[in-house]
Amino acid sequence: MRTQVAIIGAGPAGLLLSHLLALGGVDSVVVETRSEDYVAARIRAGILEHSSVELLEAAGLGARLRAEGDHHRGIYLQWPGERHHLDFVDLVGRGVWVYGQTEVQKDLIAARAADGQEIHYEVSDVELHDVDGDRPSVTFVDRAGRRMRIEADAIAGCDGSFGPSRAAVPAAETFERVYPYSWFGILADVAPSTDELIYAWHPDGFALHSMRSATVSRLYLQVPNGTDPQSWSDDRIWTELATRLGHGENGWKLTPGPITDRSVLPMRSHVRTPMRHGSLYLAGDAAHIVPPTGAKGLNLAIADVALLSKALIAQLKEGNPVLADRYSDDAQRRVWRCTHFSWWMTTMLHTSGEAFDAQLQLSQLRWVAKSQAGATGLAENYAGLPIGY
Ligand code: APR
Ligand code: PHB
Repeated sequence: MRTQVAIIGAGPAGLLLSHLLALGGVDSVVVETRSEDYVAARIRAGILEHSSVELLEAAGLGARLRAEGDHHRGIYLQWPGERHHLDFVDLVGRGVWVYGQTEVQKDLIAARAADGQEIHYEVSDVELHDVDGDRPSVTFVDRAGRRMRIEADAIAGCDGSFGPSRAAVPAAETFERVYPYSWFGILADVAPSTDELIYAWHPDGFALHSMRSATVSRLYLQVPNGTDPQSWSDDRIWTELATRLGHGENGWKLTPGPITDRSVLPMRSHVRTPMRHGSLYLAGDAAHIVPPTGAKGLNLAIADVALLSKALIAQLKEGNPVLADRYSDDAQRRVWRCTHFSWWMTTMLHTSGEAFDAQLQLSQLRWVAKSQAGATGLAENYAGLPIGY
């Protein structure tokens, strides 16, 4: 088959790219190894930057977000004995939205289906060909076992950190930092015990109280790498969360409830450059991974495809290659800003067991929480910089 853009991966990056391209009059075909149900149900993060919400709304994807998502003015930063609210709206004029990535994915799947987008789910043997030649194509075996080829003007690698696209960029330079701890994440059918997210530094390790709705809480604990999520009893999980989040301090209570999902997520920062090679463009996790402490993974994928869609529409509709030629450099500016912010939040809030580090972290937390300049720096990065930063 022939199309203008062959997109590998039907995660948020791939589907949003197909949507933005369609709005700009550019056709695409998407191939995905997993089933539609699997990609729709995957549990991931849940914070949207102000600029991500603006982009989704402008693309006609904001209705359910506005109706069912929650606007938050800021976050709480805490350490034993002290909890401080950072009001991003007061500090930088914009807040964030709590709306699960699963919900964003559902909205994208519905919008692409309504638009008749061609998506091949449950494919295998996906290969890229001639990406630096003049006849780029993607071959795959479809779920009926037929061998297929998509010929295209451009290929978008939105296949995450384990897909084939990143390997098709020869001599890519990679930058990596692996953290000596992981996140133990739970989903629980209980009303959140806080109105906005709590990021807690504690000598026993970091803890985060997030949520999905008025009846579903999402919480995380810093644990050693290799922790088996099944090896912790529910009681131990709630006891550890209560200790680290300050249950009983200043009358605040953490309400436990039935745990419906648990997983342990290793943490790393990973950046690859360039994000373009010939007619192949990488976006989202295919090009970069950030630890979740800064809530940047999904927002960075959205920012990448915002830039990439503009670049491909200009190139394929107007024959203007300028933005496409600049795509990798333009995208990398935000990639490193978000990589730095995610590393900074991670190293400020996770305990290493070193007493000197602990004092440095507490001093930084006091400064960030109590100085206008410190709080504004965090707010500007967390609420998100304008797309195209
Ligand atoms: N062929 C086709 N599809 C593939 C292949 C392949 N060989 N390998 C992987 N995929 C698919 C995966 O099944 C997945 O659905 O590519 C998709 C990549 O989607 P994501 O991993 O969600 O990555 P991305 O769309 O870039 O979104 C980034 O997702 O992981 C979170 O924290 C991350 O929030 C960030 C966001
Ligand atoms: C989440 O709600 O899952 C979440 C929120 C903030 C983070 C990471 C994850 O920094």
